[in-house]
Amino acid sequence: MTSLQPVLHISGLTKHYGGVEALTDAGFSLLPGEHAAIVGDNGAGKSTFVRLITGVEQPNAGDIRLDGNKVSFASPLDAREQGIETVYQTLALAEDLDVPANIFLGRELTRFNLGPLSILNHKAMREKSAEMLATTGVKIQDMSESLRGMSGGQRQCVAIARAAGFAKNLIILDEPTAALGVAETARVEQIIKGLKAKGIPLIIISHNLRQVFELVDRIWVFRQGRIICSRLTRQTHPEEIVGLITGAIHPSQLPAEEALTC
Ligand SMILES: Nc1ncnc2c1ncn2[C@@H]1O[C@H](COP(=O)(O)OP(=O)(O)OP(=O)(O)O)[C@@H](O)[C@H]1O
Ligand SMILES: [Mg+2]
Repeated sequence: MTSLQPVLHISGLTKHYGGVEALTDAGFSLLPGEHAAIVGDNGAGKSTFVRLITGVEQPNAGDIRLDGNKVSFASPLDAREQGIETVYQTLALAEDLDVPANIFLGRELTRFNLGPLSILNHKAMREKSAEMLATTGVKIQDMSESLRGMSGGQRQCVAIARAAGFAKNLIILDEPTAALGVAETARVEQIIKGLKAKGIPLIIISHNLRQVFELVDRIWVFRQGRIICSRLTRQTHPEEIVGLITGAIHPSQLPAEEALTC
């Protein structure tokens, strides 16, 4: 059996906010093409984990490796340049810009690329944005309107379309469907399945266990600022995951993971 090198490997990741231990000694691993879910109660440290691995905040301690190489992202843009796209729980979009400007922020399409004399290709960005947005199924009347006037769900779809459209090495979604209606949620789940088919690794944070069990290969359980265990989806069940989240089941009570047969 060949052992695959993880695309993302994390050890000892720790973040304290003053006296609050948001994340302590977290270990995590994601294999090539793997889709993983992160679950846990409110305040368990899930979003902190995402902010630390995508350069929004710096950890107090820990090691983050991409394809075996140690990385330290100075900013989210730094992570994006390495092919990591993230939809944050508190959305990082520019309220005063329209949809195409948000989607292409930092990677604008140009007609002529002459450094400071570059001319932006607005038509191409509008067309490509409409195409990307259509994958989410969301309806936005006027793409040239600023995001300020849009609903939470519409904004979430803009962020998801952008991330899914540009992700190369890894996509991270922090509660991507929390503000979406039934139809939009189903479309976003289809997008996630499309990323799986393309072999793009993904981490999704979700409180929706139906969604988690339908979409991912492995489930990581966060509890009170620690990653307490992970389970292969096909070797666990929702009751076990709920027990781990609430503390009714201790990881030491779990059966050993069965060997994977390829
Ligand atoms: N900027 C901050 N300053 C101080 N404390 C923070 C900060 N960000 C998060 N925390 C604290 O860290 C802990 C973990 O928060 P985090 O947002 O990571 O939880 P979460 O698992 O994402 O929860 P939820 O499911 O509600 O989104 C919480 O106790 C929270 O209050
Ligand atoms: Mg969160």
